[in-house]
Amino acid sequence: MPGTRGAVPVPLHTNGGQRDQRDLTEEILEAVDQHEHVPTAEVFPSTPQDKIKAALDRLASRQMVEYETHDKEEVHLTEEGQAIADEGSHEYKVWDAVREAGRLSLKDPSLANASAKLGQGNAFKLKWIKKDGDALVSLADSVSDTTREQLQYAQEHRAFQDPKLLKDYSKRKLVNTQKVIAYVARKGPRWAKEMPVEVTDLTAEMIADGSWNTANFKPYNFKAKGTLGGEGVGGGTGALHPLNKVREEFRKIFFNMGFEEMPTARFVDSGFWNFDALYVPQQHPARDLQDTFYVSDPPEAGPPSADESMDIVLAEMDVDDDQDESDHPSSDPATRAKDTTARLDYQAYYDNVRAVHQDGKYGSIGYRYPYTDAETRRLVLRTHTTAISAYVLHRLSANPRPCRYFSIDRVFRNETVDATHLAEFHQIEGVIADYNLTLGGLQAFLKRFFRNIGVPDLKFKPAYNPYTEPSMEVFAWHEGLNKIVEIGNSGMFRPEMLLAMGLPENLRVYGFGLSLERPTMIKYGISNIRELLGHKVDLGFIESNPAVRLDRE
Ligand code: PHE
Repeated sequence: MPGTRGAVPVPLHTNGGQRDQRDLTEEILEAVDQHEHVPTAEVFPSTPQDKIKAALDRLASRQMVEYETHDKEEVHLTEEGQAIADEGSHEYKVWDAVREAGRLSLKDPSLANASAKLGQGNAFKLKWIKKDGDALVSLADSVSDTTREQLQYAQEHRAFQDPKLLKDYSKRKLVNTQKVIAYVARKGPRWAKEMPVEVTDLTAEMIADGSWNTANFKPYNFKAKGTLGGEGVGGGTGALHPLNKVREEFRKIFFNMGFEEMPTARFVDSGFWNFDALYVPQQHPARDLQDTFYVSDPPEAGPPSADESMDIVLAEMDVDDDQDESDHPSSDPATRAKDTTARLDYQAYYDNVRAVHQDGKYGSIGYRYPYTDAETRRLVLRTHTTAISAYVLHRLSANPRPCRYFSIDRVFRNETVDATHLAEFHQIEGVIADYNLTLGGLQAFLKRFFRNIGVPDLKFKPAYNPYTEPSMEVFAWHEGLNKIVEIGNSGMFRPEMLLAMGLPENLRVYGFGLSLERPTMIKYGISNIRELLGHKVDLGFIESNPAVRLDRE
């Protein structure tokens, strides 16, 4: 928008946009210049008072004008009141009909309706007509229709001449009152008839040439209200998706529980990290095309190796985490990342994983099938974030120590899309490494974690994951569905997995995962996942949904 931004002060009246607002400001200045007090409702009867207020605020913020706010009650005619003001009162109409007719039969159809009956009664009381046999005759040559006159006055002045009449007319439902806010404006301490030239930005040039000294800066308006998001051109602002809001809640909970966030920018991964390192057998149905998306270009990954960008993020994280700083002579994360890599042997790790699959190792008898390098190198859209956990845990073997990591990111599965499944979703995953951990400790941890997100009373069910033993599915009571539902999966990583990585024998690792979509759908009361993700999402819902607290109703 062209305007007052920048080095050159631009007079406000050449400022683009908001044309009518500016004109109104000028009109108010004109009026205040000519009259000591300007009652805005009377001077600008057809301008909405909120527009007036905006213009007055512009002037008042510069102290050019001052104003007071007045509330007053305005009298408005109801439909019936308006009809009387236009055509006369009921009694007047009866009298008029009688006068026209000379004698008006009591049975005349024009006297049959309710308002004519009322008018007839009033006309009797006022001695305008009387009964003569079975007809009505007039008693006056002319009458004055006070009701009509008073209503006409009220219509014109929005008030009664005698304020006591208001109650009576309101009761008869001929008028009602509306509260209106109006303003009375007058000259302020810095009165000027023209808007001064104002500068909105202090620039380097202004400082250099000294013009800031004399520049007339526009005062801040701390009372200005922001534009509502999503309201057409210019008003639209970004909005956090409900999934992102719930994700933030989980992140906070993880951080509060001493977790660090794993880097997850690896949507495409190799079969090695996604499956082999986790002992998903190479012929397992999960690896079928129906379940996993494969990447055809490039056709395959190189051998398992260090991922520099992941390593740098991990090295940055380790800064506060390292117990033995002397292990890392350099404080530069890139150097420290390389340092760590130097202590890892990816080839040996790969050989160990192959040995477990093919022949057995570390007390395991293995799957006993010929392990193929081609499967290892196939590129997949990761089907779980446990692929990342595997990478991070292997890296931990360079400096084994107790630690807690989490991640929340997208995973992909070649699934049939229905109300609760999409081909992609988000996994929340946590891993905890420590010496001599036990299954009871995992249960205690999960209870604490889920209590933090507002889910008490867990139930555990033995389950199977190729990479954990024992494994437990986590269940909880669902109020809305009135039944026990599965909310997560967990386990202790198999010794074959950790020993192959080179981690010490007594270092054990818990792992657990849940979807981000499920708690989000429950929190926002969404029953169809397509209302949350994809092209059918209602943007209005995304923009207006409130923040949530996982631990509150
Ligand atoms: N990856 C598991 C899942 O897909 C979650 C999990 C992670 C389970 C780590 C155990 C250990 O559900």
